Amino acid sequence: MRVAIMGAGNVGGGLGAALAAVGHEVVFGVRDPGSEKTKAALAACSGATATSFAKAVDGADVVAFALRWDAASAAVVGLPSLAGRIVIDAMNRFDGDPARSTTQDLADLLPDAKLAKAFNTIGFENLTTARTRLVPAAMFVAGDDPDAKRVAMDLAAQIGFVPEDAGGLANAKPLELMVRVWLALAQTHGRGIGFAISVN
Ligand SMILES: NC(=O)c1ccc[n+]([C@@H]2O[C@H](COP(=O)([O-])OP(=O)(O)OC[C@H]3O[C@@H](n4cnc5c(N)ncnc54)[C@H](OP(=O)(O)O)[C@@H]3O)[C@@H](O)[C@H]2O)c1
Repeated sequence: MRVAIMGAGNVGGGLGAALAAVGHEVVFGVRDPGSEKTKAALAACSGATATSFAKAVDGADVVAFALRWDAASAAVVGLPSLAGRIVIDAMNRFDGDPARSTTQDLADLLPDAKLAKAFNTIGFENLTTARTRLVPAAMFVAGDDPDAKRVAMDLAAQIGFVPEDAGGLANAKPLELMVRVWLALAQTHGRGIGFAISVN
C-alpha cells in the first residue's frame, strides 16, 4: 500500500519506519521536506519520500495523521477531498476541548473520509519494536467505518501489534485518555510498556 503520513515527528517517523519495514510505500506530508526532523525520519524509513501535505495524499491508499493536534486544521488547507479515502488518526489532544477527540476534528475537516483511530495509545518508541516484544501489545482501533477499521487493524497486525476492536468513533476520546494511563505507568515501568487484553 502507499501510505501518506502527515507529520514526520516521533509518531510519524516511527509509524513510517514500521510500515516501510513490512513493505509499504511511505510518503511523509510535511511543512518542510528539508528539515532536520524530516531528514531523520527519511533516514530511518527505507524508500520513503517527503513532500507537501497536498502532494503526499495524491494516490495514497491510506492517509495517517501524526501531527500535533492543533496543526491538523492548517495541514488540511489545500488538500484535495479525501471523501471515501481511508484516514487513520494517531493524534492525541492534551488541551483544548476535553470532551472532543482529534478524530472528531478530522471528521469535520475531512467530510466523508473513512476514519479510524489507531496508533495513539502507546509511546512512539514502541511502533518499530512491536514484532520483538516479550508479550505482544494491543493496538486499539476505533471507528464507525468498517473498511477504515479493517485496514488500520491489518496494518497494526503487520507491524506486530495485536489489533483490538475498540468500538465506534465515539470511543476515540477514551483511547486518547488511555495515553494518560500509559504515561503514568511509563513512569514506573519505562516507556517500553504496552497494554494487553485479558479475557475470561
Ligand atoms: N510522542 C508519543 O509517544 C505519542 C504517542 C501517541 C500519540 N502521539 C500523538 O501523535 C501526534 C504527534 O506527536 P509526536 O510525538 O510525533 O510530535 P512531534 O515529534 O513534535 O511531531 C509533530 C509533527 O507535527 C508537525 N507540526 C507541528 N506544528 C505544526 C503546524 N503548525 N503545522 C503543520 N505541522 C505541524 C511537526 O512538523 P514540523 O517538524 O514542521 O514542526 C511534526 O511533523 C500528537 O498528536 C501526539 O499527541 C504521540
